[in-house]
Amino acid sequence: MDTIFVPMPEPSNLFDYLGIGPEQCLGQGGEAIVYAMDAGRVARVYHPGTDPANVHARAALLDELAVNAHRVPFAIPAVLETVTYADRIVTIERRLPGRPVNELLAKVTGETRAALIRSHLDAAARIGDLRVERPWAGELVGRHAIHTATFADYLAQRAEVSLSSARDVFGHVDARALADDWPEPADFTLVHLDAFTGNMLGDGDTITAVLDFGVVAICGDRRLDPLTAAAYLNPWITPTAGDEDRAVAAAWLAEQGLADLYEPARRWIAAFWSFARDDAALFEWCQTVLT
Ligand SMILES: Nc1ncnc2c1ncn2[C@@H]1O[C@H](COP(=O)(O)OP(=O)(O)O)[C@@H](O)[C@H]1O
Ligand SMILES: [Mg+2]
Repeated sequence: MDTIFVPMPEPSNLFDYLGIGPEQCLGQGGEAIVYAMDAGRVARVYHPGTDPANVHARAALLDELAVNAHRVPFAIPAVLETVTYADRIVTIERRLPGRPVNELLAKVTGETRAALIRSHLDAAARIGDLRVERPWAGELVGRHAIHTATFADYLAQRAEVSLSSARDVFGHVDARALADDWPEPADFTLVHLDAFTGNMLGDGDTITAVLDFGVVAICGDRRLDPLTAAAYLNPWITPTAGDEDRAVAAAWLAEQGLADLYEPARRWIAAFWSFARDDAALFEWCQTVLT
C-alpha cells in the first residue's frame, strides 16, 4: 500500500547529483519517491533505512519478469541502474506512460469510467502471465519469506504471522479458517498482491503500466490479483472509487466466475495487511473487514 511514509525533504545535493528537482516528483508510495529525470527515465529514490537487499531482490525480480513482458498488454518497470548517494539508494528506471488510476478516477466519468475499472481488473488478471516458476507457493522477496507446498498453507501461515503482530486487535481471528476453503490452484505463478489503482498507470480507459512489483509479490494463485484489486476499491484504500465502481467490479467478478472467492480473498488480504499499523486508513479497513 502507499500511504505509510511521511516524506522527508531530499538533500539538495542528491537532487544535484541526479540532475532533478522536487518539482519533478511524479508520485510516491510506501517504498520510494519517484522523480522524472527526462522523457525516458525516472529516479526512484528509496526512503531512508531501506534494506539494500530488498532493492536488489526487486531489480532481480524485474529482470526475471522482463523475459515475459511481451505476454502482457501493459508496460512493467525496468531498472536501468542502481546507485547509492550518501546513505540513499536510487534506482534509475524506464519512465512509463500514463497517470495513476486512482488519480484518473478523481476526474473520469460515464462509460469511460466503467471501462477503466474493467481494464484495471483485466490488467490485474493478466499479471500471472508474467510467469514465475518456483517449486513452492510463497514470497518471492524478503528475509522472512514463507514457502509452502500448498497455497492454502501459504495463506494460513502468512495470515498467522501478520495477525500475530496485532493480536490485541485481531485476537479473535482464526488464521487457519481464513484459508480453509481456498480451492488449490492448478499451478503457481506470479501474484502482485498490491495491484491497487495507485500501482497502475492509465490513459483514458486503458491501463498503460503496472508498477510496484516487489516486496509483497508471491508465487501462488493468480486469481488473487483481480480479487484483491476489486477489494481495494474501498473508501479507505481508494477514496476516489465509489459505489458504482464497486458495482462494475462485482459484475466483472461474476462474469469471470470469481464471485464466490471474493469474500474469502477480501478477508485474507485484510489479514495480510494487518501488520501495517502505521498506515491508519489501511489498518482501519482491515478492522472493518475482520470484525
Ligand atoms: N517508471 C515510472 N514511470 C512513471 N511514473 C512512475 C514510475 N514509477 C513510479 N511512478 C510514479 O510514482 C508513484 C510511486 O511509485 P511506486 O513504484 O508505486 O512506489 P512505491 O513502491 O513507493 O509505492 C506511482 O504511483 C507513479 O505515479
Ligand atoms: Mg506504489
